Amino acid sequence: MSQMKESSSIETAAGASPNRLGQRKTSLREPQDHKAESPAEPSEPMGHGEDALYVGIDLGTSRTSISASNGSRHTIFSCVGYCKDLIAEKRLGKQPLVGQEVLDNRLALDTVRPLKNGVIDTSEPRSMPAVQELLKHILSLCDPHPGKNIYAVIGAPARATVESQKAILQAVDPLVSSAMIVSEPFAVAYGLDVLAEALIVDIGAGTIDLCRMHGTMPDEADQVTLLTGGDAVDERLEQEILKRYPKAQVTRNMTRQIKEKYGFVSDPHQTCEITLTEKGRPKRVDVTDALRVACHSFVPPIVEAIYQLIGTFDPEFQARLRGNVILAGGGSRLSGLPLLVEKDLKELGGGSVIAVEEPTYAGSNGGLKLAMEMPARYWKALV
Ligand SMILES: Nc1ncnc2c1ncn2[C@@H]1O[C@H](COP(=O)(O)OP(=O)(O)OP(=O)(O)O)[C@@H](O)[C@H]1O
Ligand SMILES: [Mg+2]
Repeated sequence: MSQMKESSSIETAAGASPNRLGQRKTSLREPQDHKAESPAEPSEPMGHGEDALYVGIDLGTSRTSISASNGSRHTIFSCVGYCKDLIAEKRLGKQPLVGQEVLDNRLALDTVRPLKNGVIDTSEPRSMPAVQELLKHILSLCDPHPGKNIYAVIGAPARATVESQKAILQAVDPLVSSAMIVSEPFAVAYGLDVLAEALIVDIGAGTIDLCRMHGTMPDEADQVTLLTGGDAVDERLEQEILKRYPKAQVTRNMTRQIKEKYGFVSDPHQTCEITLTEKGRPKRVDVTDALRVACHSFVPPIVEAIYQLIGTFDPEFQARLRGNVILAGGGSRLSGLPLLVEKDLKELGGGSVIAVEEPTYAGSNGGLKLAMEMPARYWKALV
């Protein structure tokens, strides 16, 4: 497909350094081999002058989104399904299914959710082929031209390990000409053009990633990854419903849907009643209180992490940071969340909290912008 095969990771710590695998990563601050660089190739973007396809990919535990330079963008559930037997194959075909089709046919499929806590679950052998299916599928939705190079920037949790980043690069390697990994909240900030004092909180299904921006590349001290998120809320909601209605029949996918439709951390104006079944018989249940408990459960860790990043920032700039807190990721859709976090900031002297307009594509849009603007010299080989 291409002549060029490079992949790299933008390092979040200052400067470039050999990682635990003895490989070298490059940093956006300054590429390590910049001195050897020819003056003729200063800051031209990767693939400059080519008719290439650039993509930003937000590879998420729950959903994967892509934004492409040809204007297409798509989001799919991050799951892959393999037919359980010949009967299933007869109906669904031999190819693995991806995304919503997996949820719709899950009884006939072995389902793999290849990402855990925002990175490829390498403890499960089926994860690597599954994540390749996922990436292949979402790239194909963008109708790439067979002869064109594809340059991809992929978002990973802010504090993803080198091993995790390397696994993502290995998965995408056969599918693109060149790939680069960036911290997901940094991609969100870059996409929004928020590079001066701001605090991005990317609330995903498997992780919550925070990154404080201060006009340069963020380093490790600027970023926090919490190993919790929307999945933990879904689990808690299931427990809270079963505590109140022990015979209710409810799955994790159902609690996710209930949370996404009715979830809140504000004062509800009305009670939330839904129909579940008990041994197949429909029963109306009031889930208002269960929702309140489950949805509130993930707010304290978020607020604590915000306090940590503000509290350790240059005191002269803390007020600016407090005044520019931006919530992103699917979890930022939770009704009442920006107001509640803003209320909690009062203890630090107040602040302003907003949610991004397009949580689904904020990360992939930022990845696309990075892909189109990062000079070729930053896309150095990691593997
Ligand atoms: N309206 C909503 N209210 C509350 N939560 C929501 C809403 N819409 C989506 N979510 C939750 O957002 C999460 C998905 O967000 P997102 O797509 O940003 O995560 P991800 O990128 O897949 O996960 P990660 O970044 O952890 O790998 C899920 O837990 C989903 O249930
Ligand atoms: Mg995410």
